[in-house]
Amino acid sequence: MERKWWKEAVVYQIYPRSFMDSDGDGVGDLKGIISRLDYLKELGVDVVWLSPVYKSPNDDNGYDISDYQAIMEEFGTMEDFDRMLAGMHERGIRLVMDLVVNHTSDEHPWFVESRKSKDNPYRDYYFWREGKEGKEPNNWASCFSGSAWQYDDATDMYYLHLFSKKQPDLNWDNPKVRDEVFSMMNWWCDKGIDGFRMDVISMISKKPGLPDGELFPGAQYAWPGVVNGPHVHEYLQEMNCQVLSHYDLMTVGECAGVTIEEAKKYARADGKELSMVFQFEHVGLDDGRFGKWTDRRVDLRDFKRIMSKWQSELAGAAWNSLFLGNHDQPRSLSRFGCDAPQHRVMCAKMLATCLHMMQGTPYVYQGEELGMTNTPFDSLDEVRDIESLNAFRELTDGGVVTPEDMMRFINLRGRDTARTPMQWDDSENAGFTTGTPWIKVNPNYKEINAADQMADPDSVFHYYKKLIALRKQEDVIVYGDYQLLAPESETLYAYTRTLEREDGTDELLVICSFAGQEETFEIPEKFLDGEILIGNGRRESVERRFILAPYEAVAILKR
Ligand code: GLC
Repeated sequence: MERKWWKEAVVYQIYPRSFMDSDGDGVGDLKGIISRLDYLKELGVDVVWLSPVYKSPNDDNGYDISDYQAIMEEFGTMEDFDRMLAGMHERGIRLVMDLVVNHTSDEHPWFVESRKSKDNPYRDYYFWREGKEGKEPNNWASCFSGSAWQYDDATDMYYLHLFSKKQPDLNWDNPKVRDEVFSMMNWWCDKGIDGFRMDVISMISKKPGLPDGELFPGAQYAWPGVVNGPHVHEYLQEMNCQVLSHYDLMTVGECAGVTIEEAKKYARADGKELSMVFQFEHVGLDDGRFGKWTDRRVDLRDFKRIMSKWQSELAGAAWNSLFLGNHDQPRSLSRFGCDAPQHRVMCAKMLATCLHMMQGTPYVYQGEELGMTNTPFDSLDEVRDIESLNAFRELTDGGVVTPEDMMRFINLRGRDTARTPMQWDDSENAGFTTGTPWIKVNPNYKEINAADQMADPDSVFHYYKKLIALRKQEDVIVYGDYQLLAPESETLYAYTRTLEREDGTDELLVICSFAGQEETFEIPEKFLDGEILIGNGRRESVERRFILAPYEAVAILKR
């Protein structure tokens, strides 16, 4: 397998709105990030993925961009950006920018022009269609509830928006759109950034004719058939030719609906498209009748089956990205583990071990390295996320879900659960701001915060630091082959990694208990004389029979 710096890296995701506020306006900013670069250095991460910082009216917290080459006023200036980038590079940290080009803001000058008249030169930058019998042009649903079409009376036509109506979809079939996007990307690369995380990139090529989707019984709108569209690979290869291949970048495509076969194309090993993709199968396992709005929990056997499928099937053909959480997902500890006070430290370390020892590039979402948990919202007024607010309205208005249940689902699965401020210390507002934070702070910040954990060698923070450092020491963690053990166990996730070297074989055995009580595991013969590489328990030596403490994790290395 070919060595690449981004295979050996650990990525840290910053959600800038909630990371660190330097000027007391309650919103995180670039100077805030600069003030915390030493923290990232201390943790040892190699790459920062920065969620959007571009000029935006913030209908979807920056994922609605009105100028790709300007910084959002609340976040600072381009000079701040340059200083931040230089500060990262000085510390050996690379920067991956969020590239949001499936859509723009409706306040982007292209759209402002486009909506003016049917013959405006920018008209064809977006999707404009006539209504059908007084209704929308097709039955597509928006990912943020309701129809994916918005009527615009200036020209008596509808435009397509797969997300909010302030996020009109760009028409990638128009070569001018592609050229504009590529030259903007080159501009950022020339500034010295190190890569892109590409927002919903699997949706950029729409089926010709925009055909109706299949309606589920009782539904008003259908899931649009827009993922992995007919030209998506062609457009990404063109992007690769025009932009990516000229620099040494790391690229990751956010690929909703990606299959193994498709992933092998997006992240093809010959480097003609992207470095890797985000797949979403493991974070869809707890979906229910209303999609993500449910209180279902993931069954560990399903989780192992899906993770193992991606591990085995991409081996040698493409590269995995490893994540349990991000700004669109609940806190991984609350969702896949147990955030109760007596278990959360063990469990956060266990989940980290389980993920970071797999094959692929691990992503740490801000605060995950502290074991931050879902923030509870007492009422809808505390919720800021457009997806949750729209879904609440749609599902409760229709009487399908009671407001109480919906509030419970938002607290379990809504995006704001993980978007609350980073917990820096135990001072007011967790040290995030001296003003009024734009969204509530998790009330548990006095128990869970960075300052305490940096001072405590047994903390979740120090465990992450150790995991990240180990990746630099042991090639088997990066490049070893993966093999699942005990697939039927309902409580244990055990696997091995194997790397053939010129002078022998390195083997790693990883055992993670997802149980709140003790469990036993028989150590395979060949690991009995192995050494304990890392673990969250008090274990010092390898014995035949392990009695695992609740949420214990251990990795044994045999050379
Ligand atoms: C991606 C982003 C999400 C955003 C959406 C629309 O899924 O991660 O936060 O709302 O795209 O841009």
